[in-house]
Amino acid sequence: MVVTFTLNGSETSVSDAHPHLLAALREELGVCSAKDGCAPSGQCGCCTVLVDGKAVVSCNLSLAKVAGASITTLEGMSDERREQLASAFAATGALQCGFCTPGILVRVSSLLDRKGAGLDRETAARHLGAHLCRCTGYVKILDAVELLAKGETREVLPLGGIGSSGTRYQGLDLALGDKSYVDDLRVPGMLHGAVHLAAHARADVLRIDPSAAAVLPGVVRVFTAADVPGKLRVGLIHKDWPVFVPEGGRTSYLGDVLAFVVAIDRDTARRGAELVHVDYAPLRVISDPVAALADAEDAVWELDGNVLSRSAYARGDVDAALDASDHVVHEVFQTQRIEHAFLEPEATLVVPDGDGRFTMYSGGQGVWDDRDQVASVLGIDPQRITAELVSNGGAFGGKEDMANQAQTALAAFLLGAPVKCTLSREESLLIHPKRHPIRIDLTVGCDAGGRLTALRARMVGDSGPYASVGMKVLERAAGHASGPYHVPTIDVEAFAARTNNSVCGAFRGFGANQAQFAMEGALDRLAERVGITGWEIRSRNVIEPGQVWGPGQVMDDGCRGARRCLDAVKPAYDAAIAAGRAVGVGLGLKNSGLGNGFLEIVRAVVRFEADGTVEVRHCWTEMGQGVHTVAAQVAIEELDVEPRRVRVVVDTTRELGAGQTTGSRGTLMGAGAVADACRAARADGCRTGVDYAGEYRVDWTSSIESGVEQPVIHSAFGYAAQLVVMDRESGAVERVVAAHDVGRAVNPLQCVGQVEGAVHMGLGYALTEDFPCDENGRPLVTTLRGLGIIRAKDVPEIEVILIEEPQPRAPYGIKGVGEIGLVPTAGAVAAALHDLDGGWRAQLPMRRGE
Ligand code: FES
Ligand code: FES
Repeated sequence: MVVTFTLNGSETSVSDAHPHLLAALREELGVCSAKDGCAPSGQCGCCTVLVDGKAVVSCNLSLAKVAGASITTLEGMSDERREQLASAFAATGALQCGFCTPGILVRVSSLLDRKGAGLDRETAARHLGAHLCRCTGYVKILDAVELLAKGETREVLPLGGIGSSGTRYQGLDLALGDKSYVDDLRVPGMLHGAVHLAAHARADVLRIDPSAAAVLPGVVRVFTAADVPGKLRVGLIHKDWPVFVPEGGRTSYLGDVLAFVVAIDRDTARRGAELVHVDYAPLRVISDPVAALADAEDAVWELDGNVLSRSAYARGDVDAALDASDHVVHEVFQTQRIEHAFLEPEATLVVPDGDGRFTMYSGGQGVWDDRDQVASVLGIDPQRITAELVSNGGAFGGKEDMANQAQTALAAFLLGAPVKCTLSREESLLIHPKRHPIRIDLTVGCDAGGRLTALRARMVGDSGPYASVGMKVLERAAGHASGPYHVPTIDVEAFAARTNNSVCGAFRGFGANQAQFAMEGALDRLAERVGITGWEIRSRNVIEPGQVWGPGQVMDDGCRGARRCLDAVKPAYDAAIAAGRAVGVGLGLKNSGLGNGFLEIVRAVVRFEADGTVEVRHCWTEMGQGVHTVAAQVAIEELDVEPRRVRVVVDTTRELGAGQTTGSRGTLMGAGAVADACRAARADGCRTGVDYAGEYRVDWTSSIESGVEQPVIHSAFGYAAQLVVMDRESGAVERVVAAHDVGRAVNPLQCVGQVEGAVHMGLGYALTEDFPCDENGRPLVTTLRGLGIIRAKDVPEIEVILIEEPQPRAPYGIKGVGEIGLVPTAGAVAAALHDLDGGWRAQLPMRRGE
């Protein structure tokens, strides 16, 4: 049977077998501007289209309902309207990863038609309630809408050199949904894969029976661990994460994969995956991380003990310093697990090239790691796999570990056919790592003048079953325990515990957010005892050049940025107090790069092509943070070439791999490597067809436990002060002033956008977001809506102040902006809430369910 409707002005018929309109548009008609962020739950807005002129989400709209209707997607809008919408969004910096943008443009187009110049910011924010954007904080989206409603235009500036605010690389294509994400890619003969996940967080797997799935019409084959020719376990640091749990094995969390079903279409593959039958013998689930450390039973299959890591350091006699302190506070802080909520679920496409080689299209944060890990699972030489990075729809750390790359590649390898797998939102939530919940037992002392004397911290983080980078997150939490302050004596110990809850790993801020929520809370408690303001106690203790920080690093001139950020929010702080508002201020720091003794070498290649273009090849994932934009701007700066001639590429055909795109490394180190390659090109006359290689290395850091005298733990830090202003009547956050020291703003427009998005994420972290698991290791939140992400209408005014205190030794003085983003937010919110009602908060989130 077919269903007929009018699509973009033409009568169109599709099979009625699709589960919803979105599937028909994308899978049968190849209309891909509407994105799939959560089908069929209708909660993200990415799939919005016009049906008879009304903006609606297409992923929960049955085909029966649209028979005879007129459907318009971005592809069907007039060139003038497309240009008007895309230009406004690109010129105002209203898009980052761009995954949410096409759906929002459709909504905005319909609002403009209905309300014209009467469309104001508040109305637009209310209507955007149907849409999620995890990157922008909605501020610039609303700027763009205001511009459009007023009929004004803003020039789409081409990219320029360092410090110019040109439009994001490929911004117009991204806005219109014309730039493909992995799930938008299609190749002839492509099959689809779907995962079958564990039903119990900890259970012995007695039998896996794929027979019912195998006989479902359309199913091509079912794969299990028995099909893996190479290594079963992968992992970024420890190889402890099985890509399949086999018969006779044991599940360790609900994201474990037991089978992978390949079929002629996605719907059939998913139905097949549901038909895989598994017999289990359920076991006691180990869900309490503190108890897990001493538990005699191992939480994870074939791994001894539940202590993933211990990080510790100490300086001076903390007991004596606390005894001698005029004021001491002791508090146990508990942060929550949260979800990245990138809008694009993980997708992988693997295509056999016919000569024993494969091309893997991945949106992961480290395509070289993806390639090497997949090769180990397949038992083949990594050189047989070309991993091509497809810019992803957001990641924030959640796409560092592989999600479905190995299973998809295995299927393509064994079938000799292209296979694509895109996770459903529910699968994505179960599989990828989250932000660690950390229990922080903190004692901090100060003298009568509020000057810090001592700090003791004991931390336990819930890492879930597999290592991911959990040990590094707790190491970073330990290292950042004292925040951006000078504390003369310090004693810190942090454990990462293995449990059967969700895996936890990298997430923007990487342990610093948790540690500094606690430290900022301790500072405000001390300030009250001393009788000074929150701003004043920070000013009296902020780290200065030449002082020793946390694990023993003597800080360089770059740390002046901390005081400059604090000073930058002071006028607004004073004004808010004078106006009778409830206020809280937070100050934070976060390292950029890996540090901790890692030898970091990154490379880039610049090549002048015969057609006049300049190809810039680097090794980082573009995920909305703008690393392609940075690479292009550095090339423009160094080579003085026309922006339209610069093309940015990431794939593994040249050995540029440098680990994960994490910790603001792309901006900081990528800029260094591209600049070096450009200089090599210049020195050689920029000859056509020559690969000019450049390199940037950081080889001067030490581990927090190295014992080195005066270690350099990190090569660079970003700093930020954030002021949160609340209305005393309503208790609402009405304004945030965010002063961020980025060292050098490569592109101020995009930089401000990063901060706005981070503040939005930070307010959610502070107030509403959570991803709890019950005692069976089962997440209690299964949908995007349930995560507590703040909607557009509830985002307060955000004022961003960029500070540029150069980082010594860093290219152009860059410090990075992504990592530090929300480090001070939760502390500032807690202080404002205390000012509001007198209560001290020690647990996140602070307002969920209120
Ligand atoms: S994909 Fe339709 S609302 Fe998310
Ligand atoms: S730009 Fe909105 S989700 Fe990334």
